[in-house]
Amino acid sequence: MEKRLLQIKDVVLLQHPFIFLFVLALSFIVMDPFELSPVGGHDFKPVKNDIAPYKQVMGSWPWDNLSRLGQGNLEFKDDIFGPESLEFDNLGRGPYAGLADGRVVRWMGQDLGWETFATVTRNWSEELCAQGVDSTTKKQWTVESKCGRPLGLRFDRKSGNLYIADAYYGLLVVGPKGGLATPLATEADDKPILFANDLDIHHNGSIFFTDTSKRYNRVNHFFILVEGEATGRLLRYDPLTKTTHVVLEHLAFPNGVQLSKDHSFLLFTETTNCRIIKYFLEGPKSGKTEVVANLPGFPDNIRINENGDFWVAIDCCRTPMQEMFIHHPWLRSVYFRLPIPMRYLARFAGMRMYTMIALLNDKGKIVEVLEDKKGDVMKLVSEVKEVNGKLWIGTVAHNQIATLPYPLQSH
Ligand SMILES: *[C@@H]1O[C@H](CO)[C@@H](O)[C@H](O)[C@H]1NC(C)=O
Ligand SMILES: *[C@@H]1O[C@H](CO)[C@@H](O)[C@H](O)[C@H]1NC(C)=O
Ligand SMILES: *[C@@H]1O[C@H](CO)[C@@H](O)[C@H](O)[C@H]1NC(C)=O
Repeated sequence: MEKRLLQIKDVVLLQHPFIFLFVLALSFIVMDPFELSPVGGHDFKPVKNDIAPYKQVMGSWPWDNLSRLGQGNLEFKDDIFGPESLEFDNLGRGPYAGLADGRVVRWMGQDLGWETFATVTRNWSEELCAQGVDSTTKKQWTVESKCGRPLGLRFDRKSGNLYIADAYYGLLVVGPKGGLATPLATEADDKPILFANDLDIHHNGSIFFTDTSKRYNRVNHFFILVEGEATGRLLRYDPLTKTTHVVLEHLAFPNGVQLSKDHSFLLFTETTNCRIIKYFLEGPKSGKTEVVANLPGFPDNIRINENGDFWVAIDCCRTPMQEMFIHHPWLRSVYFRLPIPMRYLARFAGMRMYTMIALLNDKGKIVEVLEDKKGDVMKLVSEVKEVNGKLWIGTVAHNQIATLPYPLQSH
């Protein structure tokens, strides 16, 4: 039986050179001996994700068909480079922003413009790191780990110190006058913090922050998404003992962190799984987690407003093709080994991103959704900060900040 089958196969392959070539090409692709594919040189191991069903999430989402985020304004165009996180100090000065060139900068008003407020490494220099509008392009990738990439910013309201989650330098702090930041945490549980992403400060001084992956750094973040790997952690730095503790692990791209108004729980985003998770700090569920919202796209930072509601920045949307990939890791194994640049592979997979922001209450109920379906204002969004009737919207990939009066003025 075996033998006959083999003979049939041989005959088929020889009589149909096309099939033979196809099989050969396929094995070439899968083995990628010359590392031509985007995953070449990486230990690429796609796994299944724990993600809510596509149809269910997309079907029940309250879409903003008026695309009202398109009413926003673009500010500081080409004068600020990939401002992922935005913050204001105790005196209301700012925004402060963490840039793609490794600096934390502060807006000093029309006359003075942006000034450098802090750096995360002694090695930061203008010659090496400051590439202007090119900082948000591939050109920065080779120097990014040397220059730093501050992704999460928070002022401690009591001390006026600024805490920074930097993708390469971990958790750091800098005084109210700025300068070179001091590292606080670079490893946890004997594992280096490979990709610190965001933080928030508990009123007892503890700092909760995310370490997105143990396997890929920020430059390689796309692999975390397509592989679906879940080696991310939620960490807690204790300032009294100067120690860092693992709070949660096995997370799939943990990203933004936000404590609730009364600090009885925190929310964090899990980007790969398109969802927001609640971690209870008090009460009967203390130490437990719960999914509070499944989103139609990939969430980044999350920030509370005066009412205690949460703004989440979402790169939208999930696609049917992605759904198929999620359920069949082997498909990703083949597809992302095609010797074609990642941006084309991503586009073929339907991953054309646009911006959505959503406001959730403390029960996880969506109370507002604003979209920019045509990508007029922003194609990629990283954080929404509501301050005095205005939304400040950061982006990791573009050279601008978007703003929008909120609540929206009706026309
Ligand atoms: C928005 O558009 C979708 C799809 O076109 C439709 O199903 C939905 O009912 C619309 N929602 C509103 C509030 O008009
Ligand atoms: C600064 O650069 C030197 C030389 O490349 C390197 O050995 C050192 O580790 C760097 N220091 C920091 C804090 O990154
Ligand atoms: C601060 O609060 C966190 C969260 O409840 C807790 O894990 C930590 O032990 C507290 N730290 C102190 C010093 O009480």
